[in-house]
Amino acid sequence: MTPSEWKAQLERVRDRYLQAIPQTKNINELERLKIGCLGRKGALTDLLKVLKDFPMESRKPMGTAGNSLKNELTALIEERRNALLHSDMEVNLLKTRLDPTLPPCPFPDGSLHPLTLTLEKMTGILSKMGFSPAEGPMVETEYYNFGALNIPADHPARDLHDTFYLKDTNPHPSALSPQPSALTPKNDRLLMRTHTSPIQIRLMENARPPLRIMAPGRCFRHDAVDASHSAVFYHLEGFYVDRHVSMADLKGTLQSFIRGLFGPEAEIRFRPSYFPFVEPGAEVDMKCIFCQGSNQGCPVCKGAGWLELLGAGIIHPDVFKTVNYDPEVWNGFAFGIGVDRVAMLLFGINDIRTFYENDLRTLEQFSQ
Ligand code: DAH
Repeated sequence: MTPSEWKAQLERVRDRYLQAIPQTKNINELERLKIGCLGRKGALTDLLKVLKDFPMESRKPMGTAGNSLKNELTALIEERRNALLHSDMEVNLLKTRLDPTLPPCPFPDGSLHPLTLTLEKMTGILSKMGFSPAEGPMVETEYYNFGALNIPADHPARDLHDTFYLKDTNPHPSALSPQPSALTPKNDRLLMRTHTSPIQIRLMENARPPLRIMAPGRCFRHDAVDASHSAVFYHLEGFYVDRHVSMADLKGTLQSFIRGLFGPEAEIRFRPSYFPFVEPGAEVDMKCIFCQGSNQGCPVCKGAGWLELLGAGIIHPDVFKTVNYDPEVWNGFAFGIGVDRVAMLLFGINDIRTFYENDLRTLEQFSQ
């Protein structure tokens, strides 16, 4: 072969492949073409292989021409490959009707309800102080909700106006009281619990002191609904039973608890009060966190300077007798706090109904 014949062959290879590559219809066809030209026994490879047989002076320009064609064809094949891949993808897309390039559907993050946030904060503080969680049924018997807690039959809380009674007057004893006490009346009425204090009784019936328990939960009262009353609300009952538990323990515990909730400056005071299941009993107020007790026109404390927060006291000996604890040996304190009230103060909400309307515009404001 003379150098000019070689050149003519190179031109033919060039013409053929420059025309054929852009016409390939799929990757396989392109692959075959690439092997036919640049493969081990490809047309161009063959031409480059024989270069060494030519004299030095003609070999150089021939080599340059051969290599530049190699580069040209390699680039063209790459370009075609990209184009084919792209159109393959488009065909596939049309087939599947799925567009992976679209951003995903907006899936808004949920957020915890302000009452849940508040409960978590409250139980978080108490658990650091050694309180363990306990639960009880929302449908209670009169015995657990009232009788065992020393709340007498004629107490107004038992009134139809205050409590939701259920029609079924014969609860299945095992459902509500795994080990019915000897004191459980036979025809005990069922009701929606009005507080979580009954969990004290249920727990003490089944465990021995020392006990340090926190019992949060949903409660129900036959209340007319307004900005500060809801027929459904949350309570957290705390109690501690051991030897030598005193009012000082109660005060220290509540002080730490309230400061944990509202900050180290929070100030509390005890006012003597009456709850049948404690003696002595107290209502605990916190100095108004909005006006520090200094604003006669404060809309939150109404000028009182103090906010009523919870009820508490030393557990009544009669309650211990009910659960067969010897009141000469054991004593303890108990407290009950409204979770909604705490949430309202923490989040600056002035209407309790906000918690139960489930308006997303409101709830989204508390996302964490
Ligand atoms: N259970 C009471 C209520 O429903 C709150 C309460 C007051 C709980 C005094 C207590 C307590 O444990 O000692 O209002």
